[in-house]
Amino acid sequence: MDSNFKQKWEEYRAEFEKALGEYLEGMQVRPQVLSESVRYSLALGGKRVRPVLMFACARALGGKTSDVARFALALEMIHTYSLIHDDLPAMDNDDYRRGKPSNHKVFGEGQAILAGDALLNEAFSVCFEECRNGKTYLNAAAEICKNAGMHGMIAGQAADLFFEGKEAGAAEEEFIILNKTAKMIVSAVTVPALVYGADENIVALFAEFGKHFGFLFQITDDILDVTGDFEKVGKTIGKDAAEEKLSSVRIYGLEKCGEMADQHRDICMRILDELPYDCSFLADLTEYVRSRES
Ligand code: IPE
Ligand code: IPE
Ligand code: MG
Ligand code: MG
Ligand code: MG
Repeated sequence: MDSNFKQKWEEYRAEFEKALGEYLEGMQVRPQVLSESVRYSLALGGKRVRPVLMFACARALGGKTSDVARFALALEMIHTYSLIHDDLPAMDNDDYRRGKPSNHKVFGEGQAILAGDALLNEAFSVCFEECRNGKTYLNAAAEICKNAGMHGMIAGQAADLFFEGKEAGAAEEEFIILNKTAKMIVSAVTVPALVYGADENIVALFAEFGKHFGFLFQITDDILDVTGDFEKVGKTIGKDAAEEKLSSVRIYGLEKCGEMADQHRDICMRILDELPYDCSFLADLTEYVRSRES
């Protein structure tokens, strides 16, 4: 990995951790079990890909990471809630997340459901507060809420669950990936363009980049579910096959998945070339995701 890329990645990550740390410091929640379960999952880390993407897009557009830090926090809250619920026995039934016991293994299923609910509501509250900054912030908040809900991530999760153990094909799989994963990533990369009131065609290019990055991200996640190392991935390996998930590996096989990941990476690169900004970090990040081991 290019050391300049690594340094920038760490810089964005550190900025996000600082914003999150400040939020957690000021967070006063009772009962204690709710406070602890929310903190547990938020502070566990994870790669923070969505905040890093959002910060990198803000910089590419000539802005500051602080302009979108609250939206990055809201998006990571929604992402974290989606993972807490995704791990529940009623969904993917995974005992590990980010290398540690899943939220429900520590706090019980009921509290895990509530921690997820709390994070979603809090994310919306953060988004509403940002709307006070003006219309462009309202547009960005609306984008986050839309892509997280029944026209986005939740639709994808519902389809993912529905097709467990059922015969289905490429169209269903495309719907699942687009909604459960790509739309949250679309939010990460369109929020800065919306906040800065960029032209419609620029917002559309960012959205298209986010969509293909999202496909690349989920296909590599599906590959790692087969070929990954628990120590690096931090979640149970082989879970998709065990739960009879409609994953891209199940439909296409590992080799074709690798080719498809390459195609999405190449499309991402072409879109970045079209954008009239310095997108070199975003290009490096795309390359990194293609070969990621975690
Ligand atoms: C996991 O997301 C769920 C998918 C969409 C594949 P991440 O791989 O971004 O999870 P963390 O945040 O790094 O733990
Ligand atoms: C989850 O996809 C996507 C979400 C919206 C949470 P997966 O079920 O493949 O994610 P992992 O592998 O558990 O992280
Ligand atoms: Mg799942
Ligand atoms: Mg899962
Ligand atoms: Mg997975």
